Amino acid sequence: MKDDRIYIFDTTLRDGEQVPGCQLNTVEKIQVAKGLEELGVDVIEAGFPISSPGDFNSVVEISKAVTWPTVCALTRAVEKDIDVAVESLRYAKHKRIHTGIGTSDTHIKYKFNSNREEIIERAVKAVKYARRFVDDVEFYAEDAGRTENEYLARVIEAVIKAGATVVNIPDTTGYCLPEEYGAKIRYLVEHVDGIDKARISTHCHNDLGMATANTMAGILNGARQVEVTVNGVGERAGNTSLEEVAMILKCHKDIALDTNINTTRIYPMSRMVSSLMNMPVQANKAIVGRNAFAHSSGIHQDGVIKNMTTYEIIDPKDIGLDGNSIVLTARSGHAAIKTRLEALGVELTDEKLDSLYNDFLKLADKKKEINDDDLLVLAGADRTANHHIKLDYLQVTAGLGVRPVASVILDIAGEKFEAASAGNGPVDAAINALKTIVKRQMVLKEFTIQNITRGSNDVGKVHMQVEHEGKLYYGFGANTDIVTASVEAYIDCINKF
Ligand code: KIV
Ligand code: ZN
Repeated sequence: MKDDRIYIFDTTLRDGEQVPGCQLNTVEKIQVAKGLEELGVDVIEAGFPISSPGDFNSVVEISKAVTWPTVCALTRAVEKDIDVAVESLRYAKHKRIHTGIGTSDTHIKYKFNSNREEIIERAVKAVKYARRFVDDVEFYAEDAGRTENEYLARVIEAVIKAGATVVNIPDTTGYCLPEEYGAKIRYLVEHVDGIDKARISTHCHNDLGMATANTMAGILNGARQVEVTVNGVGERAGNTSLEEVAMILKCHKDIALDTNINTTRIYPMSRMVSSLMNMPVQANKAIVGRNAFAHSSGIHQDGVIKNMTTYEIIDPKDIGLDGNSIVLTARSGHAAIKTRLEALGVELTDEKLDSLYNDFLKLADKKKEINDDDLLVLAGADRTANHHIKLDYLQVTAGLGVRPVASVILDIAGEKFEAASAGNGPVDAAINALKTIVKRQMVLKEFTIQNITRGSNDVGKVHMQVEHEGKLYYGFGANTDIVTASVEAYIDCINKF
């Protein structure tokens, strides 16, 4: 297939969403999908429909919600999976089935207890079956990164003959070196009969920090589709970052391959995904990290003031960072908030905007300036509306030389329950009080407080993981009072048990 550009396949809503604690509901997924459409991605992998009714429903709703991008559904090389995927894609204007099987010897032996020939047969059968329903079938050779090239070429040749239009070469474990991954793609270009009938796709994981480098090596050796996620979210160390690949191709005109990405939507999209998934972006993350454009050394600042190109290879405006965003305060009106939220990719009904505006005023009373992150937290604030257990009242006493104590009132399905307890700090005391009301086996496994660096009046965001009956539950809380945010995060976990 002769392509003169790079196709962006976004898997934020499938591979990205597999991160524990980052699951989105269908409404949130539609919001992300629409944002991706505006960003200009070519393919949205919307889910793995057989895996759960929620995933199935999300593929259905995303198919209805977007127009231009191809909507893709993942399956194993199993007919039942393909049937369910076909059903979930019934409203998609452009549809793709992504089917595949493990091809490395490790997968063949331990996952399938099978042999190489049988795996080729199963792959071919699945592709042929999927082609009965859709014209666009992508095949993935799971663990291709550790699959011997000669055998991989045989698999790929067979699935192209069976009708695959895209062939995905995942480095599932993030093991490959860029040179090795690039050589693998080159090997397929040179040794697979009929390779010109399909588009080669990269799908790299970041376990050794090489996902973007491997993806670029793939492109330089003939791949024309890249599978990526916003902010590089994904299981373990994540997937290749969409924004990194898009900006590399924009900066490196020497590569002479464009994408369809409207790069000015990159930053709003990054904020939206981070906020909805409750997944902070590391400060020094390339392109979208808080410090990506912050020059602190005097020499750099001096140079950038004289001429931006002395130390910056990207104009922040190119990724949608306007630098002169409006400062929102208690005097800002509905229109300013609506405009800022839209710039961040969030559209609200008038009714929702009214209720957000009340919360905005309360927050603006507590802190002078409201930033984008605060707004996004407010926009997601009604996530607790349907909670069975709610925090009704909290009082803590703590300080130097004082034994921390807390009293808590919980509203459980409309009934009030009260308890008080001591602890080794205010959060510990409050959680102990909470545990005397909710008598379940619970162990706090992770506790992160974020975003209190911009001032003592800032909103603190708390991410928690609580273990209950062998399973981990993720919770989130946000408040200018860090103890309240912590208790809210704990209660958010309990509500998910
Ligand atoms: O990493 C991987 O191999 C995958 C496939 C299912 C495409 O995500
Ligand atoms: Zn993957």
